[in-house]
Amino acid sequence: MIREILATHIIPKSTTVYRGFLEKKFCADIVSSYERLKKINNTGLRRDNLLNTERTDWNSHTDDVVNLVASEIVKGFGVMASYSRSEFGEIKFELTESWIAESQKDALVEPHDHGDNFYGINWSFVFYARLPEEKTSLVFFDPTHGKTSVSLSEGDFLIFPSDLFHYTDDTCEGRLIYSGNFFVKLC
Ligand SMILES: [Fe+2]
Repeated sequence: MIREILATHIIPKSTTVYRGFLEKKFCADIVSSYERLKKINNTGLRRDNLLNTERTDWNSHTDDVVNLVASEIVKGFGVMASYSRSEFGEIKFELTESWIAESQKDALVEPHDHGDNFYGINWSFVFYARLPEEKTSLVFFDPTHGKTSVSLSEGDFLIFPSDLFHYTDDTCEGRLIYSGNFFVKLC
């Protein structure tokens, strides 16, 4: 019998959005880390999709406390996505960028994605560490499913494919989020 030698995708690209929750301690860790970390100038012509928002650079996970929160989030993803060791061997995740951002007055997050999603292995997360108005939302949209608005409370996190478009128009002053990008490594 001739063996099939063509490579196949073993993690399908998907528009699945995962939702999880971390206890208050992790919210406090992000808030205190943000006070400690240096901020970059994210205003005027230098700004990205975060309007009227102050943020760290893209490497906030080089801070040990922040890195620990990232691993808690990504650990949750491993369980939720049901990647089974017996099926795939050992699964590893590598964080490529992460940042903490604080909304200022009249802040909003313009529609954007977080880059490509080669073979469905590139994922992004957002963790809501401080919400002065208790609730906020994130709107996802894609050509197949249209718009989906997700309501969020402090301590919630979402994990979504990096190429999925999203935006927020109900930020409030003082809202603090921790967001990042990672990819799944099959070893
Ligand atoms: Fe985003």
